[in-house]
Amino acid sequence: MIKGSGTSLDARSAPAERTPVRIGVLGLGTVGQALLRLLAASQSRIERRIGRRLAVTHVALRDPQRRRDCDLSAVALSTDPRAVVTADVDVVVELIGGISPARELVLAALAAGKAVVTANKALLAESGGEIFSAAEIAGQPLGFEAAVGGGIPIIKALREGLAANRIDEIAGIINGTSNYILTEMSRRGIAFEVALGRAQRLGYAEADPRFDVDGIDAAHKLAILAAIAFATPPDFAAIQRDGLARVHPDDIRLAGELGYRIKPLAIAKRHGGGLELRVHPTLVPHAHPLALVDGSVNAVRVKGDAVGQTLYIGRGAGGLPTASAVLADLIEIARTRGCAAVLPPALGWPQASLAPLPVLPTAATVSSFYLRLRVADTPGVLRAITAHLAEAEISVEAILQKEPEAGADAQLAIITSAVTAADFEQALAQIRALDFVRPDHSCLRVEHFDD
Ligand code: NDP
Ligand code: HSE
Repeated sequence: MIKGSGTSLDARSAPAERTPVRIGVLGLGTVGQALLRLLAASQSRIERRIGRRLAVTHVALRDPQRRRDCDLSAVALSTDPRAVVTADVDVVVELIGGISPARELVLAALAAGKAVVTANKALLAESGGEIFSAAEIAGQPLGFEAAVGGGIPIIKALREGLAANRIDEIAGIINGTSNYILTEMSRRGIAFEVALGRAQRLGYAEADPRFDVDGIDAAHKLAILAAIAFATPPDFAAIQRDGLARVHPDDIRLAGELGYRIKPLAIAKRHGGGLELRVHPTLVPHAHPLALVDGSVNAVRVKGDAVGQTLYIGRGAGGLPTASAVLADLIEIARTRGCAAVLPPALGWPQASLAPLPVLPTAATVSSFYLRLRVADTPGVLRAITAHLAEAEISVEAILQKEPEAGADAQLAIITSAVTAADFEQALAQIRALDFVRPDHSCLRVEHFDD
């Protein structure tokens, strides 16, 4: 070592480039605490990667008395998130969730010239136009890798890795809570409510778990993925949506006997000049890779015209996987700080180039259907039901009849050929009007993939 050289070398390489990036975190729940723990554990690796530290200097929370599982000794705590936004920070990380006050805080941070990272898919799906435009006008990066797929880098893959492709189709499991619930119900026979309670305790569920089980969260995420894939503004309201309430334990069992597993799928397809956008529990052939994705794991299948099919899989919910995505955004922002122009636009397309696309009405969408019926155990039942299907030119791909106990009703499960939802609904109405068909029934879509 040359005596005295340390000072001058430091003086040459230290200045602004080596100062820590100051971060203000809004919200210290499941994801916020995991972010602080992960950052503490990986600080030296980050410094080695980018030559500077990431320092969380300010944190906003609601209840200062609540015990937190992270080190807050070097952090200024506040119950006023606005104070964190206006504090001397370079990046604001929004981990509060919901629309308000998250929307106002993110807009204020961007207007104040701060980079923003958020995991808030509800905000981006419902107020995305305003938020993405504000980021573009402010010339500030807006990271949201954590908003879809938890720890899977699906935003970066779709926006950058597949940028050379025209994307034709996205299909995947993008809500960890629903997938966890269906997995627990099917693998362990656990009741819906018990499985939901466990998902909440594991930190997978949204603050209001109806967002998970009613398909709202998956629709928020699908709106974001579709915006990137199809260069269209996020359009949450256009997404057809069904939740887990449609799935009875009998459906899980009968689907299994027919060779399928029920998965909470989100599907976006390009059809000529329009889009098909839907979220619902779906029967998937049991050997397909998506049928094998269990628990809180997410998987997204993306089909591009050049690359063909690609599949991204990993933990889609929970503190650490989500913090992994938040921290990746922070590392990228820190690395490119001062030259944000090198970053792609948030959705991969300049805002002015986004164009709304017509969305196919639900009635016109085509798929196979699974139908479960309870019927009186009398002769001619099957013939009458299949006759109504045949009238609508729907063929039966598979059928399962469960022999009843003496005097009880029989149970039928049918898989149809591919048909429009309108034709299926019409045939179903006629079938339900038959004397021997009981009022309770269940129908779910079946998805066959070409891989
Ligand atoms: P939590 O409910 O666990 O945490 C929310 C945090 O925000 C809490 O610390 C709460 O404070 C704080 N907060 C709420 N309102 C205010 C307010 N007005 N001012 C200051 N602080 C406030 O949520 P998560 O950590 O699970 O989720 C955060 C975000 O990340 C959400 O947008 C969610 O959708 C998203 N996300 C979550 C994932 C997960 O697996 N959990 C995965 C991917 C994304 P206090 O603790 O004091 O009540
Ligand atoms: N509640 C969400 C889920 C968190 O279960 O997928 C991850 O976005």
